[in-house]
Amino acid sequence: CGIIGYTGKEAALPLILGGLERLEYRGYDSAGIALIEDGKLIVEKRVGKIRELVKNLWGKPYRGKTGIGHTRWATHGEPSQENAHPHTDSKNEFAVVHNGIVENYLELKRELESEGVTFRSGTDTEVIAHLIARAYKGDLLEAVLDIVGRLKGAFAFAVITVHEPMRVVGVKQGSPLVVGIGEGENFLASDIPAILPYTRSIITLNDGEIADITPEGVNIYDFNGNPVTKEIVIVPWDIISAEKSGFKHFMLKEIYEQPKAVGDTIRGLMSSGEEPPFSLKSFRRILIIACGTSYHAGLVGKFWIEKLAGVPTEVVYASEFRYGDFPVGEEDLIIGVSQSGETIDTKFAVNFARERGARTLSIVNVVGSSIDRESDYTLHTHAGPEIGVAATKTFTAQLAALYFLASTEHPDRYKLLEELFKVPARIERTLEKSEAIEKLADRYMNRRDFLYLGRYLSYPIALEGALKLKEISYIHAEGYPAGEMKHGPIALIDEKMPVVVLAPQDRVYDKTLANIEEVKTRKGKVIGVGFEGDDKLEKLCNEFIGVPPIEEDFTPFLTVVPLQLLAYHIASKLGLDVDQPRNLAKTVTVE
Ligand code: G6P
Repeated sequence: CGIIGYTGKEAALPLILGGLERLEYRGYDSAGIALIEDGKLIVEKRVGKIRELVKNLWGKPYRGKTGIGHTRWATHGEPSQENAHPHTDSKNEFAVVHNGIVENYLELKRELESEGVTFRSGTDTEVIAHLIARAYKGDLLEAVLDIVGRLKGAFAFAVITVHEPMRVVGVKQGSPLVVGIGEGENFLASDIPAILPYTRSIITLNDGEIADITPEGVNIYDFNGNPVTKEIVIVPWDIISAEKSGFKHFMLKEIYEQPKAVGDTIRGLMSSGEEPPFSLKSFRRILIIACGTSYHAGLVGKFWIEKLAGVPTEVVYASEFRYGDFPVGEEDLIIGVSQSGETIDTKFAVNFARERGARTLSIVNVVGSSIDRESDYTLHTHAGPEIGVAATKTFTAQLAALYFLASTEHPDRYKLLEELFKVPARIERTLEKSEAIEKLADRYMNRRDFLYLGRYLSYPIALEGALKLKEISYIHAEGYPAGEMKHGPIALIDEKMPVVVLAPQDRVYDKTLANIEEVKTRKGKVIGVGFEGDDKLEKLCNEFIGVPPIEEDFTPFLTVVPLQLLAYHIASKLGLDVDQPRNLAKTVTVE
């Protein structure tokens, strides 16, 4: 979910709606706002995207100068009008927007109900509004301080009240929250892009901090009410890079930005001298922890680290790590990979390992994000803001950072990095295939299932290709190690099943060709991705997409691009919402 708050000299509504639009990638099941208008609380909310809310607000010229807004990714309570935020107390004097989960809300709800409070929604958020209303004795900050210790879980929320019409109080405990400093106006938001058009002066809150905001100033406190001194950071991001600049969708624009994202990441890491302050080889084991697309980058990273640094490496889904019984300690290095730096599963898993003595290194795209700040050491990808929910340029930028890391102690490092520098130009050439892939999409867009196969470095790319297709086109797709197909998925193959096979000329090329034969024998339709000029492969496949030949190690950077484009063109031709596919959110700050 995304939250935003404003108090200042302007009418709050347009600023809040603009901010919500920029936060929409955090979820779009419902949206809502609350304003203080002539001493009364106005609450408007709608199921669906922000534009539904905006439509509903036409012809309602609210002028209130203080307000909060929310865009929701449903956790507790289905996406409905009642469950949409903001939530209010029984007398409609306090309104709360909230991201995350109050884990003990049932206990708190029972307590409030026993005192006669009637609940109007199925959300955990409503308890916060009732608790604050009950604690309020004339000072909103005091009331928040009074109740905040009772809330368990990871969350962030913002609250306003009719009793103090020019004040917003925000709390951060586990979910992200930043403060934007303006002139005669101040902001709160889940993340920086929401408020970037209005201010670049940002205070990042830590867990356990409360921001008290009025038009004249911002004060930060800890949960005991002690003032905390914070640094104001000036954000360099250019908002233009978060606009579509002529592309039909953000996702397509971001696919095309990959040469730059990879190039900037390599240059950024080299020029900033971002070298880890420890030797990879000094660890018994490396554990890479991540979710979604970042997990797939981790799977590629594992092969590179084992090959170039020789350290045994495992890759674990963050959500599986924390509740397992992994023996982890001082001899382990934990690498958290996260585009947003806010994914709660990854953040918790990395912290869990650190508490047990492991060293932690993160690879994140968002500077100042939670995982960035909480890790011992960070390598930053320099992909720029990614808006499309399906990750593309952050994936290839993560690959660049992982290769950079894996090569740190290699005797031929300089030569290896020279090769890595060739990648952006080859991605550029791969992008020229977009038109051909679009035609392919025409022929295959109505299939119901796809299989993606690859071996060694291409196996994670098969997983990533399948993930891209299911995320945005809602077509079922499965990624599998090509050699493992014979143990199950082969039973699915018939003339209706397209099988995308990654077959660059690497150490497992011949084995992969043998797997293609197995598919063809069962009449499967093979879409091969391999090196340009590979006639043998081209003849064997029903369809062929060539990428420029490149050293084995770098093939994932190139072979993933046609798969991103295939998923994109299919979803776009099906008329689907490519940038905001149903049920997904870009940054998932719940477990
Ligand atoms: C969500 C996004 C994915 C992303 C994953 C991990 O599921 O939709 O695109 O790969 O989170 O996000 P992170 O920010 O940790 O890389």
